[in-house]
Amino acid sequence: MSKADLDWPHLDFGYHKTDYNIRFTWRDGAWGAGELTTDESISLHIAATCLHYGQQCFEGLKAFETKSGDVVVFRIEENAQRMRRSCHKIHMAEVPEDLFTDAVFKVINANRKFVPPYGTGASLYIRPLVIGSGPQVGVKPANEYIFLVLVTPVGPYFKTGFKPVNLIVVEDADRAAPLGVGDVKVGGNYAAGLRASMRARERGFTEVLYLDAREKKYIDESGPANFFGITPAGEYVTPDSESILPSITNKCLITLAEEAGLKPQRRHVHVDEIFDFTEAGCCGTAAVITPVGSITYRDRKAIYSKDGKAGPRCSELYDKLTAIQVGDAPDNYGWVRRVPEK
Ligand code: PLP
Ligand code: COI
Repeated sequence: MSKADLDWPHLDFGYHKTDYNIRFTWRDGAWGAGELTTDESISLHIAATCLHYGQQCFEGLKAFETKSGDVVVFRIEENAQRMRRSCHKIHMAEVPEDLFTDAVFKVINANRKFVPPYGTGASLYIRPLVIGSGPQVGVKPANEYIFLVLVTPVGPYFKTGFKPVNLIVVEDADRAAPLGVGDVKVGGNYAAGLRASMRARERGFTEVLYLDAREKKYIDESGPANFFGITPAGEYVTPDSESILPSITNKCLITLAEEAGLKPQRRHVHVDEIFDFTEAGCCGTAAVITPVGSITYRDRKAIYSKDGKAGPRCSELYDKLTAIQVGDAPDNYGWVRRVPEK
């Protein structure tokens, strides 16, 4: 099949129109049949709970074309499970894992020409979401839900690509509360972070780094990604926190770090430790690994890159991860799944 006419190597991380999305409605206790549609809008009841009470969650995963022309998705089972947890936590109808996978495969197949060609560095970003579509005025869960999957071809999340970004630690804003919903992927967490992010950008930083909301001592995560640091003793250190999203990418990196001879540690990471790290990175589906060049904390700055280049550990982990994702390296852990053609 011929590919869409897009400037693949220069795609940004934005919405690029594709041909189809797929939607399912949950009503009377069951999900209906999916409908593939070219319609980019949804018609919603004005009292839908997603509009008033934030009953909404989403996922993000990627599909890649391999050298042999197959299309593969990365860790889809993990995203399906996390979406179930998100739905459960804010009392929405859960999407069964087989329905999730089937929907993702169908929408990819309907949009194969938008899967970026192998070797371009771009990918097809898959965005499943669930919204409460049934009306309520009292604070109650909806009696109707929509599960929708859209796809869009994307390039790197941070426009600099695999180049170090500059973070600032924020102390006057929290993204999520310890016993709140920071550990699931609900839209409100991102709305909560927008003002801090925009303020950071106005000041010339790429993104923010949040501290734990309770004590403001330990690193939580960045706005759109988890955080890790590399210590002089060769440890891969990443925060353990109840208010961060359990990143699937981070889980992979912990495995790959161990393979690379680093010692992975998931634990509380005191903010002062940033001054000891030799390298640091943000990680996530969109961010992949984004090396961190500097972190500003109060009146001090931890600097990890002086030449605008990523450090050796970040580079090694990035190469290992991306080679598995596009099928260039063996998939020793069963992370990659081929999308069967319909
Ligand atoms: N943290 C936040 C807040 C995110 O939005 C994401 C993106 O999904 C991540 C971390 C990284 O998670 P994952 O690696 O599963 O994409
Ligand atoms: C992802 O990495 O898939 C995300 O959902 C992060 C988002 C802020 C783009």
